[in-house]
Amino acid sequence: MKLITSPQIMRLDRFVSHSAPLSRSQVKRLLHADQIDIDGVIERDPGVMVSEDNKVSLQGKILCWPRPHYVMLNKPADYICSTEDAGYPVVSSLIEQPWGAALHSAGRLDVDTTGLVLLTSDGDWSHALTSPRRSCLKTYLVGLKHPLSVDITQRFAEGLMLNGENKLTLPAQLVVLGTHTARVSVQEGRYHQVKRMFAACSNRVLTLHRESIGNITLDPELLPGAWRELTPTEVEN
Ligand code: URA
Repeated sequence: MKLITSPQIMRLDRFVSHSAPLSRSQVKRLLHADQIDIDGVIERDPGVMVSEDNKVSLQGKILCWPRPHYVMLNKPADYICSTEDAGYPVVSSLIEQPWGAALHSAGRLDVDTTGLVLLTSDGDWSHALTSPRRSCLKTYLVGLKHPLSVDITQRFAEGLMLNGENKLTLPAQLVVLGTHTARVSVQEGRYHQVKRMFAACSNRVLTLHRESIGNITLDPELLPGAWRELTPTEVEN
């Protein structure tokens, strides 16, 4: 994935808290104590925007822009990719690093789905990866309640009408692995897409595990809950 990156721009308090690193309340105190300047001029407003063209200093020392982070995680069940459901911990809590909490997931998995989740602090990168225009292939290992029907590969390839929708799914690839198991690759990211595709074929997904997103494949060394940073080649994707 080639990215044309725009110059970084963010609120002063966010920039200082990420680059120092410090908590937002510590930054607030330092701002009030006239300890932070932008291009040599003391600044007290935490919400003022700074860009890479500015020199921001804390107590006279120039702060560097925080580098973006890119992580692959083997998501265990019972973790969520969003912050909407307070009943479960968020996946970013598994990244026990000072910068872990600043990460968001590029594409979500359901709470009971396991496998590859990509996390980053780079909004442009996650946006490019998940953009519908890019139609990046996501591949899943699926375990099913009922035996697979003989025409299942063809039905996935032809497109399916999901409950409550009025547009067929784009062609998806299905490889039968056993009577109750398949490998499925989809190019869209509709809500509960894989589960609903099997529901449209009168079957039910019991287990769902994401193996890859585009050219990025879950590292087999990563046990559930484990993570590693992406290599530069993977980031380029
Ligand atoms: N499709 C689903 O139904 N659930 C997921 O978590 C991912 C794809």
